[in-house]
Amino acid sequence: MSSLSAPSSSLNAWLMKPWAKPLLWLLCAVPLVLLCTAVATDRLGANPVDTFIKEMGEWSLRFLWLTLAITPLRDVAGLPGLLRHRRALGVTAFVYAFIHFLAYAWLDQGWRLDDIVADVIKRNFILVGFVALLLMLPLALTSFNAAIRALGGRRWQVLHKLVYAVALLALLHFYMKKAAKNDLAEVGVYAAILAVLLGWRVMRKGGVLAMLRVR
Ligand code: HEM
Repeated sequence: MSSLSAPSSSLNAWLMKPWAKPLLWLLCAVPLVLLCTAVATDRLGANPVDTFIKEMGEWSLRFLWLTLAITPLRDVAGLPGLLRHRRALGVTAFVYAFIHFLAYAWLDQGWRLDDIVADVIKRNFILVGFVALLLMLPLALTSFNAAIRALGGRRWQVLHKLVYAVALLALLHFYMKKAAKNDLAEVGVYAAILAVLLGWRVMRKGGVLAMLRVR
């Protein structure tokens, strides 16, 4: 990439190193390791089950937002090497959402399927989270090279547009949870970041960024 500036070019070379991927996977596991350590050492406060479920949900949201930030960052910062790390972030978002669900099903509902179904029907925010998780499943299952080859690049890309629906549903799930307590500051921050990330894509499609000379 001859057009990269010197700092971008060295950062990009770093992103392309063979050890950059394993390092990122390790970093992705850090929140889970820290949370599990906190559970084991009884440092999750008065209500460790709720805290664990909440933290896993929030980390899933953070990794989802990071996944969506890769394309704009790649273009704005001129870092094509970022793209090879998007999959790790997306898969981590799914794994954390799945652990969030498993923790809820096990620690909150004691694996009782009828209670879980009743809760999904009774509480809209659980239903919305459930749909978001279901939509994440095909994305996670097709995140491997063999699946991409089997689907074909074009169909894979169309399927992975589901990530936008997942992001909106996850945000709605978070909003519904927090709105009940009239505590919307954090949701507002996530909503603003998502608006920028999605707005950027809309503008790029419309060629506005090309006009502003952002590739
Ligand atoms: C079957 C799917 C899901 C279920 C059953 C579920 C369940 C829950 C429950 C019970 C809570 C409240 C925890 C508490 O206050 O003790 C919660 C909060 C939350 N969930 Fe989910 N969820 C699901 C999917 C998701 C997904 C896919 C995401 C993100 C991608 C997510 C993100 C969050 C967030 C950010 C919170 C709020 C945490 C906070 O209050 O700080 N959830 N969820």
